[in-house]
Amino acid sequence: MRYEETLRNPERNPMKRRVLLQAGVAATSVATTAMRSANAQDGNPEVGAIADSFSRPVFIATWNFGQAACERSREVLLGGGSLKDAVERGIHVAELDASNHSVGYGGFPNAQGVVQLDACFMDGLRQQAGSVAALEGFPNPISVARRVMETTPHVMLVGDDAVAFAKKQGFQPQDLLTEEARLGWERWKTAQQQGESATTDSHDTISLLGLNADGHIVGGCSTSGLAFKLPGRVGDSPIIGSGLYVDGEVGAAGATGVGENIMRYCGCFLIVEFMRQGMSPTEACAAAIRRIAAGEQRPASELSVNFVALNKAGQVGAAGTDKGFRCAVVDGRQSLVARPQLLQ
Ligand code: GLY
Repeated sequence: MRYEETLRNPERNPMKRRVLLQAGVAATSVATTAMRSANAQDGNPEVGAIADSFSRPVFIATWNFGQAACERSREVLLGGGSLKDAVERGIHVAELDASNHSVGYGGFPNAQGVVQLDACFMDGLRQQAGSVAALEGFPNPISVARRVMETTPHVMLVGDDAVAFAKKQGFQPQDLLTEEARLGWERWKTAQQQGESATTDSHDTISLLGLNADGHIVGGCSTSGLAFKLPGRVGDSPIIGSGLYVDGEVGAAGATGVGENIMRYCGCFLIVEFMRQGMSPTEACAAAIRRIAAGEQRPASELSVNFVALNKAGQVGAAGTDKGFRCAVVDGRQSLVARPQLLQ
């Protein structure tokens, strides 16, 4: 199958995301509202039913694994760290989890067996942003992206020059290819040579958004991208407005899924603009997916595009096209995994 075909038809995509984490992650403390709306299928509440049950500070992230990340963010913030520290260090949890094959250390490599990471960081205060793409050898690209934002007049650094920047900033390079990821790549190569498709255990990108008690909003997005991608391929995740967007006056959105289907529509920018027009976070995520599906002239179920969002008031939301997509929401009292609105 040609590479382009795999992207245009996720159902035939040997690299498509297969969500292995089973729903039903125990919430440490779940509000009554959330319990009432629990879904019999997996025990997780619908995000629409709990959208108003959180108070600032609040964090929302993509996927079940985002719960541990958001809990770390809360811990950092309540421990006296800044919101930027909280978002960055929450994302570290996913980046340093070797069992997560789509983010940071242990991420699946590109077609040549090299782990190339993408990340961006955005602060709603005057839309400050930093980003790195195709970064090799650093397990925490989110921190390098933040450093781009804070120490340079630029927004995005890529490839070898991003590596040189990271080294100059004092980040320690290391080998990111774990044995498990290498074996996955070997299996993929063998399957390719035999003309077969091979599924991967990839969960996808972490996008994490945070809003503090003062109404300050910060977000980050980090990924190893599409498993076994064409070397040099960059998806939506490090692109401001595509994989992440934060507007200090309105809210923020973050994405996960097939980057090619998100970045051609500036998905997260679109969601923030929909919220500016008055839509709730979930309505805005769903409207963006409908826009993408209309543009693609194919059913949403084929797209693998998923979003989380929050607005300045602290209302959270999410919608996606992948049946296994979940989001995690954490505030001062609650920590739970929720089911986004599903569009097919
Ligand atoms: N959403 C991650 C990627 O497509 O690279």
